[in-house]
Amino acid sequence: MINPSILSADFANLERDLARIADADYAHVDVMDNHFVPNLTIGLPVVRRLAQVSPVPLDVHLMIADADRWAPAFAEAGAASVTFHAEAAQAPVRLARELRAGGARVGVALRPATPVEPFLDLLAEIDMVLVMTVEPGFGGQSFIEGTLPKVRRTRAAIEAAGLDTWVQVDGGVSRDTVGRIAAAGANVFVAGSAVYGAEDVAAEIAALRDLADAAS
Ligand code: DX5
Ligand code: ZN
Repeated sequence: MINPSILSADFANLERDLARIADADYAHVDVMDNHFVPNLTIGLPVVRRLAQVSPVPLDVHLMIADADRWAPAFAEAGAASVTFHAEAAQAPVRLARELRAGGARVGVALRPATPVEPFLDLLAEIDMVLVMTVEPGFGGQSFIEGTLPKVRRTRAAIEAAGLDTWVQVDGGVSRDTVGRIAAAGANVFVAGSAVYGAEDVAAEIAALRDLADAAS
């Protein structure tokens, strides 16, 4: 799956830029609160409207403090998938159950230095692990190679448990990196600058998908 990040879209033309990614699997929406990360983007009222106008379902990535308190409202706002950060949740299993009860798929995101191991016995409670391949906060950063072993360990644990949990990567995904990441076991690729920086957005989505397919 290719999920373009609208962080690299034109914030004055979000409806138009969502229409440009109608071939994608999901639209990745980065919510930042200027506390969990040093950047501020959009919040609940905007996400609610984006869910109404988007041609593809929303994959909301919450980079916010106190996820336990704020995340469930994003499921109610129409996000098909809600990902919170492991580092920002007090009770991740309770929150995951609440999000599923709200009708959303649940993702748990890990900063590059956060280990996946504490979550390996809890994989049945979630639908997706997001392995951050840059420090969250900004688009256009370079891919951190040292995150690939975590992608491999996550995929191996999912297979060993016989689950169909998705493994998402976010940060520095491009034609240069997508094959290596797919070979490591990811199946959901977030790409912001690579997609919205391309001349032909639909062709870039197709190229990333083909390269990932060929490598996996
Ligand atoms: C960064 C965000 C990403 C960002 C990725 O914190 O979570 O979704 O948009 O941007 P690129 O693909 O440009 O690295
Ligand atoms: Zn993101």
